[in-house]
Amino acid sequence: MFGKKKETPQIDKEQLELIENAQKRIRQKKRLYIHFVIFLIGAVFLILAQTILGIGKDTKLFGIEWFVYAILIWLFLFIYHFINVFITNKFMNKEWENQQIEKLVAKQRNRIDELKTQLQKEDKHIAETEVYQEKIKAKTSQQNLTIIVAAGENNAIGKDNDLIWHLSEDLKRFKRLTSGHHIIMGRKTFESFPKPLPNRTHVVITRQIDYKVPEGVIVVNSLTDAIDAVKSDNQPFIIGGGEIYKQAMPLANTLELTRVHHSFEGADTFFPEIDKSQWKETSRIFNAIDDKHDYEFSFVSYVRA
Ligand SMILES: NC(=O)c1ccc[n+]([C@@H]2O[C@H](COP(=O)([O-])OP(=O)(O)OC[C@H]3O[C@@H](n4cnc5c(N)ncnc54)[C@H](OP(=O)(O)O)[C@@H]3O)[C@@H](O)[C@H]2O)c1
Repeated sequence: MFGKKKETPQIDKEQLELIENAQKRIRQKKRLYIHFVIFLIGAVFLILAQTILGIGKDTKLFGIEWFVYAILIWLFLFIYHFINVFITNKFMNKEWENQQIEKLVAKQRNRIDELKTQLQKEDKHIAETEVYQEKIKAKTSQQNLTIIVAAGENNAIGKDNDLIWHLSEDLKRFKRLTSGHHIIMGRKTFESFPKPLPNRTHVVITRQIDYKVPEGVIVVNSLTDAIDAVKSDNQPFIIGGGEIYKQAMPLANTLELTRVHHSFEGADTFFPEIDKSQWKETSRIFNAIDDKHDYEFSFVSYVRA
């Protein structure tokens, strides 16, 4: 109970390792030194054995006395020992290993910091995009923003800034649905018309500042501005083309698709894939080929699921 308290060592593990390492180095160098002395004595002994004692006096290889070979082989072993102690061991001892590990750890830490910064930037970008989408959704929630499009089986919608087919029933339906409403379109689609379509208010999206249009046509610089410009309309239409459809897909509430039952090779503009988990089909009317229509086609209506 009152006995002498047991002494705990004051040296920590790392210091102990350093000391052990230093002792090992001393032993290695000592052994090398002894090797050197033995080598010198041995070499003298080999010379004397041949010259004075006459051991193997007649043994020669390529005209050279045997002891020369023996000394050279020994010298080679000594050099190998020397390299081991001063070069290999110096570069690959515990200290060297630790330095390499520290370098690696520092590199990994830098990489982790870089990734963290990148992640923060991406988070910010995602948050901004979500806020943007929410803002537009809030704007469109009161309206029935409708995409109207005619697309082939491969989603082709145009080539060389023009349509690829002529389906008079489809044009009639387009006219019937959009008349009296605002039609939002990209600058290229607008330029594909010979003149503005009657009885509809055109809203043209362009990044150009001074884009000239005929009287009555509204020019805006973004899809958000286009949606702002059609606030008074309870059913504005997005009428294309490819770039505008892609941006408007997450925002529209209704989709009026004319599916042309043919795959059009060589098209240069496409409608985005319709995500069936996002869109619910509400009606489908099939139209057969006749003298006015070269392809079968279906009018398909969707609402956001
Ligand atoms: N089958 C169908 O139902 C249907 C319907 C419509 C069109 N189309 C076809 O589609 C093709 C045209 O489509 P497209 O994709 O090439 O062009 P587009 O979507 O009609 O117009 C693209 C242009 O809109 C402007 N724009 C796009 N995004 C913008 C943004 N966020 N902010 C500001 N401006 C923006 C840019 O105009 P600036 O370059 O002036 O900045 C851009 O060059 C034609 O072949 C046409 O016949 C087919």
